[in-house]
Formats: sequence, C-alpha cells, structure tokens
Amino acid sequence: MMPVMPKRDGRRQTRIVTHASAKPEPPTIELPAVESVLDFGCGLGRNFSYLKTIAREVSGFDVPEALAGCEGHPTYGTDRLSNDWNVTRQRRFDLIFASLVLEHLPTERVAGFLDDFAPMAPYVYVLTRARSDSGAAILDLVVESRAYDPGPCRILDHDPSTHRFRVVGEASFDAARRSPDDLHYEVLLRSRVF
Ligand SMILES: C[S@@+](CC[C@H](N)C(=O)[O-])C[C@H]1O[C@@H](n2cnc3c(N)ncnc32)[C@H](O)[C@@H]1O
Repeated sequence: MMPVMPKRDGRRQTRIVTHASAKPEPPTIELPAVESVLDFGCGLGRNFSYLKTIAREVSGFDVPEALAGCEGHPTYGTDRLSNDWNVTRQRRFDLIFASLVLEHLPTERVAGFLDDFAPMAPYVYVLTRARSDSGAAILDLVVESRAYDPGPCRILDHDPSTHRFRVVGEASFDAARRSPDDLHYEVLLRSRVF
C-alpha cells in the first residue's frame, strides 16, 4: 500500500469534493483500452469503481484535504494515491482522467497542468464546464497549450431530476470552443509530445 503523503503541494486549492458514495460518472465518449490510468482530482474516489473496469492500475491524485477523506473507503490503500504533484508528474500512464476538476482551478494552474499532462500520457480525458470558476475558456486553454490534438466533443447538461449529466449534443472541438453556451463538454485529447 502506498501511503498518502502529508506534504502539501503548496498551490492554491479548491475544496469541492465529491463523496465517494456518489455514483461514478462514466464517460459517454469512447476511451482507448488502457493498462494504467491517473484519476486527476479524484476527490473521494467516486470514479475508481468505473476506472477499474477499464484499467488494471488505477492511481489517484488530489490535494491533501480531499485524499484524507479517502481513509476508510474500500478503495483507500488499494491504489496509489498521491498529493505530491512533483512525484506524480514523474510517472507515466496510458490515460489521465480529469473529471470536473479543471474548471475549478485558477487559469494559470489549468495551463500548467495541461502542459504537465502531455508528456505523462498519450491520452487525456477531460470532462469540464466550458467556463472555469474564474471565467476562463477551458477549451481555449487546451489550444493554447499546443500540446494536444483534440477529438470531437460531447455536450452534456445537468439533469436536475436525476442529478446526472445527460447528452444534449455533439460538436467538433472548434465548434464547441466557439460556442457561447456554458455547458459541460467531454473530450479526449491526444498528446502531441508523449
Ligand atoms: C468537483 S470535484 C470532482 C472530483 C472527482 N473528479 C469527481 O468527478 O467526482 C473537484 C476536485 O478537484 C480537486 N482539486 C482541487 N484543486 C486541485 C489541484 N490543485 N490538483 C488536483 N485536484 C484538485 C478537489 O479536491 C476535488 O476533489
């Protein structure tokens, strides 16, 4: 078992954490077959059970406050959980899975993580709201990184009756990027530098 490291990564942190007992939010777009996946911003690990169905090795990264909440959960200690980005970014994965994380980070952190992800994995799956909490256009930041070939986007909206996402459309990456709608988008990014 890999211990959760107490060290803080010393950067601004968001305190939004999804409870582990919440149902996983599996992607609606097809993901490549993978051996290893990093759940970036895993929170309390609600997506671990889904990720276990597509990858043999599931790792998680999040800030210390979030990972502390994993203790006691059945998945705690069964996978590699880290809150030290300097350690995690040295590792290599088949897929980085970033679900509902990037939109909560400051713009410079989103740009920094997008730069960091590209040499870490050939694919990055992103589920994000179009606009971050600070108003940045997340899909524009993907283009500005110059590190990815993005696939088509699935457009999702929150269904208030089920509290789940529902698919409301599809769009090319460029069309999604130009859209004024602040909906959620799923996209698979192919790294140009891995
Ligand atoms: C809305 S939750 C989503 C959690 C999980 N991905 C899910 O879909 O259930 C946002 C997550 O981003 C995490 N987060 C905030 N700052 C972060 C950072 N600098 N690096 C990685 N994760 C971060 C939070 O701790 C939280 O777990």
